[in-house]
Amino acid sequence: MSLLYFLGEILMIRKILLSGLGLSAALIIYGTASAAILGSPHEIGNGPNLCVACHTPHNANANAKPLWNHTASSAAYTMYDNAFSSTLDMAVAGNTPTGISAACLSCHDGTVGVSSYGGVVANDVLDGGKSVGTDLTDDHPINIAYDPAADPDFVAATGVTGAGLKLYNGQVECATCHDVHNGPGVTGKLERPITTADLCTACHIK
Ligand code: HEC
Ligand code: HEC
Ligand code: HEC
Ligand code: HEC
Repeated sequence: MSLLYFLGEILMIRKILLSGLGLSAALIIYGTASAAILGSPHEIGNGPNLCVACHTPHNANANAKPLWNHTASSAAYTMYDNAFSSTLDMAVAGNTPTGISAACLSCHDGTVGVSSYGGVVANDVLDGGKSVGTDLTDDHPINIAYDPAADPDFVAATGVTGAGLKLYNGQVECATCHDVHNGPGVTGKLERPITTADLCTACHIK
């Protein structure tokens, strides 16, 4: 199902809800479409606007992940890279997380308000354990090429994707281990459902 179709469906349902017609039918469809976000930590914003803190059907930020609506962070990061860890064998692509990790960090580095989207500036920044901060050296490496040829202690890339984990341009990113659309029923902290017993050993041979 295409994103536009999906978002269109939500908007259409919102219209139905607002018009007060077909309420129960709309609720059934709405429940299906939003079952994962609804009630999860990523239920941000109100009512039928479940998606808008992150996605928009129009005028999205072309530099970010699917139809991205959240204000980007302009923070400078300290990466978990070879300069930090001499035992790291794989390549970290620069000091600026890109793509999907930048999308997560637009809320989770604690510098941009959660409600800063669609041109609104807000101060409700994440803190405590919910913010990873801008010093990423106490966090699992991201923006890093998954390259078992550089270190034999790693499962082949096909094994990783076969276990249900996603690599982005061949790299490990936040969304490799997390799925934001996971609902409140998912064990742990929004981890992707994986087919191996353990998240870490889906990649690490330890
Ligand atoms: C907290 C932020 C956030 C919220 C809220 C959110 N999304 Fe997403 N969405 C993302 C991110 C990040 C990605 C990229 C995920 C990936 O590539 O693994 C994504 C990807 C997608 C995609 C394309 C990839 C896929 O998984 O199919 C669709 C479609 C989508 N979202 C729909 C929605 C809808 C509909 C809602 C509201 C019910 C919603 N999202 C709410 C962050 C969010
Ligand atoms: C629009 C802002 C926003 C974006 C973008 C966003 N998050 Fe969140 N995230 C939140 C909020 C708000 C919470 C709940 C914080 C709380 O409970 O105090 C949260 C909670 C979490 C949690 C903790 C869940 C739990 O069970 O306690 C994880 C893990 C997480 N997010 C990962 C991600 C990842 C990975 C991405 C990118 C793919 C992402 N988030 C994108 C706002 C965001
Ligand atoms: C290698 C896998 C992996 C990667 C990559 C990863 N995480 Fe996590 N993350 C986890 C696991 C596992 C937990 C649960 C840890 C726990 O509960 O002790 C977690 C927990 C979290 C939490 C919840 C912390 C809390 O105290 O509630 C947040 C927020 C979070 N991650 C955000 C991110 C962001 C943002 C990124 C990218 C910058 C990221 N994660 C990258 C595996 C990962
Ligand atoms: C998607 C694959 C993947 C998953 C899942 C994963 N890792 Fe990693 N991990 C990597 C890669 C790639 C590196 C970088 C290895 C290198 O360059 O030698 C790494 C590096 C590390 C390092 C740093 C090693 C160093 O030399 O500095 C530690 C520690 C680590 N991971 C622990 C974990 C733990 C704990 C988990 C489970 C919560 C986990 N990893 C899940 C792929 C993964």
